[in-house]
Amino acid sequence: MTSKEIKIAYSEYEDIQQLNAMDRELAEAAIEATKGSYAPYSGFNVGAAVRLEDGEIIKGANQENAAYPSGICAERTALFYAGANRPDKAVTSIAIVASQNGNLCNSPVTPCGSCRQVMAQTQLRSGVPMSIILVGASRIWRFEKVDDLLPLIFDSI
Ligand code: THU
Repeated sequence: MTSKEIKIAYSEYEDIQQLNAMDRELAEAAIEATKGSYAPYSGFNVGAAVRLEDGEIIKGANQENAAYPSGICAERTALFYAGANRPDKAVTSIAIVASQNGNLCNSPVTPCGSCRQVMAQTQLRSGVPMSIILVGASRIWRFEKVDDLLPLIFDSI
């Protein structure tokens, strides 16, 4: 038996102003995207913004449904839109943020497993590392690539 360990790396920022200009613009787009959230059941308004390789920004927000599993997260709304409408453009980064009762959540929102898997496939599809910016009011986490949020990505088929 051999014990193995996987380490992940990420950067922490205290404020959106500490991000570089491109990341800051994406974080602000994600905050703007929360306005499109439809979350009558959870009251958790999530916004996501993805940047394509040509600089275009696409926004998404969570869309809930009375048949709960029919709803979808903000990240997948944005990523599937990008895949469907800009299939030839790599997604180079995604920013995610959430608000409750109109206030930005303090802690960064860490994406659910399904969204991480979709991020992984988006990255595999283009072959371009996709950075992930998780925005909270009191701190921001930045990951260089999806592998850092989802080690041992499923890509066996
Ligand atoms: N949600 C997202 O949109 N993204 C996440 O990363 C976590 C959860 C949504 C799904 C649901 O509409 C609400 O937040 C509560 O789980």
